[in-house]
Amino acid sequence: MNHLLSPSLLAADFLNLGKDVRMVNRSLADWIHCDIMDGLFVPNISFGLPVLEHIRKIAEKPLDVHLMIMDPDRYLSRFRDAGANILTVQYEACTHLHRTVTEIRRLGMKAGVAINPHTPVSLLKNILPSLDMVLIMTVNPGFGGQTFIGESYSKIRELSEMISRGGFDVLIQVDGGVDTTNARSLVDAGVNVLVAGNAVFSSPDPEATISNLKLFSE
Ligand code: DX5
Ligand code: ZN
Repeated sequence: MNHLLSPSLLAADFLNLGKDVRMVNRSLADWIHCDIMDGLFVPNISFGLPVLEHIRKIAEKPLDVHLMIMDPDRYLSRFRDAGANILTVQYEACTHLHRTVTEIRRLGMKAGVAINPHTPVSLLKNILPSLDMVLIMTVNPGFGGQTFIGESYSKIRELSEMISRGGFDVLIQVDGGVDTTNARSLVDAGVNVLVAGNAVFSSPDPEATISNLKLFSE
């Protein structure tokens, strides 16, 4: 399949969020990545449900919501009601992960699980059949604009093998430090969904950068 691109609004202009969401609507991007942080699972606080509800009103693409919060079970239905289409929880923040992802699907969303850089992909062996997506964090979560962790490539390849060996229908997403210099090699390694924040929104022409990240036309 052709890879998907999910620009992360964490790097958008929060004073002009509507303008940036409309730019993503017009662009070749596939999804809109929304980072939710609680100041507990990660040492940062981003934005929450009321902002997401407003994004939903004008977004014309699926909302790819990445929860960096402890015990996300408390909020699953509220994120569905706020407009999430894909809901990704952090492996390290869930005590009963199977229950969590089953509930996400029951609520009508696609279920994703994110793993931090220190978490091995082998731990996902028994949960893979219950997932729609695995997000391999390629930086330590919490902030945009960090440097891509090179060791992530072996995790991508290992996960890609696990998925094809098992015949599972699971997308591989990467998030953190993705830009026009590494996008193509990530897709070659087996990535299906690229998340990019600063690479898109800090570039002089975000819409053209989205095209580059989709078409590798640079
Ligand atoms: C980081 C977030 C990312 C962030 C990526 O914790 O999960 O989605 O926005 O930002 P960049 O692409 O700038 O590394
Ligand atoms: Zn994210």
